[in-house]
Amino acid sequence: MCGIVGYVGTREAYPVLVKGLHRLEYRGYDSAGVALISDGGELKIYKSRGKVAELERFAESKDVSGNIGIAHTRWATHGEPSDANAHPHYSESRTLAIIHNGIIENYSVLKKALEVNGYTFRSDTDTEVIVQLIEYIRDVSGCSLPEAVRQALRELVGAYAIAIIEKGDRGRIIAARKSSPLVVGVGEGEFFLASDAGPIAEYTDRVVYLGDGEIAEISLEAGLRVVDVAGNETPIDIEQLQMSISELEKGGYPHFMLKEIFEQPKTIVDAVRGRINVEETNVALSGVTDNRERFVEARRIIIVACGTSWHAALIGEYMIEEMCRIPVEVEYASEFRYRDPVTGPGDVVIAMSQSGETADTLAAVELARSRGAFIFGICNVVGSSIARATDSGAYIHVGPEIGVASTKAFTGQVTVLMMLALAIGRLKGSIREEFYLDGIRHLCRLPEQMAEILGRADAVADLAKIFTYARNFIYLGRGYSYPAALEGALKLKEISYIHAEGYPAAEMKHGPIALVDSEMPVVVIATTDRIYEKTISNIREIKARGGRIIAIVDTDDVTVREIADHVIEIPRTCEHLAPVLASVPLQLLAYYIAVYKGRDVDQPRNLAKSVTVE
Ligand code: AGP
Repeated sequence: MCGIVGYVGTREAYPVLVKGLHRLEYRGYDSAGVALISDGGELKIYKSRGKVAELERFAESKDVSGNIGIAHTRWATHGEPSDANAHPHYSESRTLAIIHNGIIENYSVLKKALEVNGYTFRSDTDTEVIVQLIEYIRDVSGCSLPEAVRQALRELVGAYAIAIIEKGDRGRIIAARKSSPLVVGVGEGEFFLASDAGPIAEYTDRVVYLGDGEIAEISLEAGLRVVDVAGNETPIDIEQLQMSISELEKGGYPHFMLKEIFEQPKTIVDAVRGRINVEETNVALSGVTDNRERFVEARRIIIVACGTSWHAALIGEYMIEEMCRIPVEVEYASEFRYRDPVTGPGDVVIAMSQSGETADTLAAVELARSRGAFIFGICNVVGSSIARATDSGAYIHVGPEIGVASTKAFTGQVTVLMMLALAIGRLKGSIREEFYLDGIRHLCRLPEQMAEILGRADAVADLAKIFTYARNFIYLGRGYSYPAALEGALKLKEISYIHAEGYPAAEMKHGPIALVDSEMPVVVIATTDRIYEKTISNIREIKARGGRIIAIVDTDDVTVREIADHVIEIPRTCEHLAPVLASVPLQLLAYYIAVYKGRDVDQPRNLAKSVTVE
């Protein structure tokens, strides 16, 4: 999952491209590069291993003039992070330059065939094969560049978003996508290209989301033309972008992750806006209301997701089964898509994805659709591939999430799932009116309760100092809090690189309790719920083995604080929403430990924000 940027117009391209790369760096930061065509028509590529800042240092002494260019920030799949494997890549004759986000599965077969025809390769990437193939087709057939691109794309198996520029042509970029996202920004006498709208928003709010299998010929002379791989023209749908620049900035916070954690009181308000009436007596999701039969008569609901979204989905399973009495299965999208699952008409498949671009989740959607299931999307990024691949859905409206570790999206997803369960439960008549109204009341109190928790962030920072040494952590929860324990463990793993595992608390005695000793910090979500007493017994079992307990408790808790070594208080809410509140101090704990360990919190090693490859 790399980041792609392109520009053609009257401005100097280089500063636009570099700024765009910084906006997309959360997609991958193994290497970065830029290709420019100078006023004299010369094609130049500058690239280097490491972050965009490395590229800027490298290009400082170079000629970066020109009004057209493409740029790339990489998350390595084929070929280790290195200068040679960095994008862009030249064609054999060095007259074409290409950047690519995705994976070409049949690249080695094509590479061998091209080598037989005398083409040489300077990198280990699958990407270089694409530009060499385009040049080969043009060389043997004498066809135009757009035609050669179309023919080459027909040979490729896999996922791609590509952009190509040609030596001597200072007015045209050719771009194409299949599975990987690509957006074109339409300006006054200029065009922008990017993997998502972030790099485009400050220049224009007119965008075209390229569809799967579409090729864009972006030309200053002829304007924007979109065709399919057969060359048939496809209509252009220019959409208005709803994104402010301030949402893309850190706003004075040291990290996007901390900003996004502190945004949650506001993002929960945004998630429920227009869905709960002022009297707090009704919750309505238009995607449910418009398709009520699908939900009321649903034989089963299957939720497909990855990572943090999968944790939110688990909480959704508990909510929907309890409130709607519909059987729910939660599936890792990467497993669902390959295990020949039983699904079809009568099933509602919910696709949970913050980015809306996760390849495994997108493929799971396409599989379920092909078998006749009704697809409902719960996404954050407007206009994303998954959002556009569903029959209906609900956006979580938490704004751009730039920190690689998902935070506000998780609490937004659980909030939307709660509204979904209440709405379906009401339609089905499977919940009592009092329970329904109570659920709405608790939803509406979340923002102030979160603000209260954030007001005590310093206490969590102090606690983090104590445990920064830890080599392992265990996170425990029961019922609705079990998935929140999984999520807490994931946050710590992905940004502090400390090994951490989440478990249902009662599972400990079936093995994992062997891990417990005086060195092992054990975080337990012990808020008041139907199994509170059981959780207390589990805490006592851990204490008996010398474990160090950090307990998340309700403000008015008495019992747990007598047993635990450390407590973090959160306001009381219903057990269904306790995971939303409990996850805030867990996000902060992971954040501060990672900061004290000097980790790159927003761009942790080996990760990227949206996983657009398998
Ligand atoms: C979470 O912090 C990670 N960034 C990752 O697990 C993420 O949740 C996963 O890749 C799914 O992403 P999505 O919600 O955009 O589909």
